Amino acid sequence: MTTNAMSQNISTRIEQSILYITITRENKLNALNIQTLKDIKEAVLAIYDNHEVKGVILTGAGQKAFAAGADISEFANFNVEEGTRMSAEGHAVLNAIEKCPKPVIAAVNGFALGGGNELAMACHIRVAAENAKFGQPEVNLGITPGYAGTQRLAQLIGKGRALEFLMTADIMNAQDAYRMGLVNHIVPQDQLISKCEDILSKIKNKSPLAIASVIRCVNAHYEKKLDGNNVEINEFGNFFGSEDFKEGTQAFMEKRAADFKGK
Ligand code: COA
Repeated sequence: MTTNAMSQNISTRIEQSILYITITRENKLNALNIQTLKDIKEAVLAIYDNHEVKGVILTGAGQKAFAAGADISEFANFNVEEGTRMSAEGHAVLNAIEKCPKPVIAAVNGFALGGGNELAMACHIRVAAENAKFGQPEVNLGITPGYAGTQRLAQLIGKGRALEFLMTADIMNAQDAYRMGLVNHIVPQDQLISKCEDILSKIKNKSPLAIASVIRCVNAHYEKKLDGNNVEINEFGNFFGSEDFKEGTQAFMEKRAADFKGK
């Protein structure tokens, strides 16, 4: 089944159990104005409980940019209150992606700068095209990253490298990003989406309950109010009351593929 939708800023379609989200502000290098982020959040939240969707691929329109940052023309004249609200709203959008119970893959097809890199980092997996370029150039604009770049970058590449990258505003190419662990894979641009689909095809037939649980447990490590180990112990225990776990173990013993229902 294919379901298409379009806002001014993004297009979405559901096909073969995958939600494809494309940022469609190509002439602005897919710069993220506030409404674009809200549209992405809405599209992601809409599939949280949709059992037909098994994963999400997020990308930018065109060959040049995933997203070249927050829309500078929109926030240049913000006051303190507006700036604080912008950051809080951005955090909420990116948290909604990070907490999505289905795998979200960023298909980085060019520049991922500032908010663009922060958006990619909120996704569970990043695949880069060979021409991808990553950077947090905020200090060039006299500001710090506002969409959790200072937090997630350190998680992904380590504190020392993150601090250097954030303070120098250096631009990283795809090879450097791969070497540092910022991206999971690099592929030629024309294979970018198919690589993401290959990854999702491996995840699609697993227990949806188990996949959602893996995401919750890994996220818990980074949430100050939670003890990740306790979250894992509870999550693990709860599976013993699930149909998916019974089906998975039964299928193993009967030497057949499991047919998970997400229950
Ligand atoms: N916000 C708003 N508009 C942006 C943008 C952003 N973050 N990034 C690019 N654009 C717009 C440009 O203003 C330009 O619009 P115009 O044609 O109406 O003038 C259009 O996108 C194309 O960008 P341009 O700068 O002409 O492309 P380029 O190939 O010469 O340069 C970049 C590409 C990415 C190096 C450059 O656009 C850039 O530095 N962008 C800002 C990156 C940034 O600082 N991001 C962090 C923001 S917090």
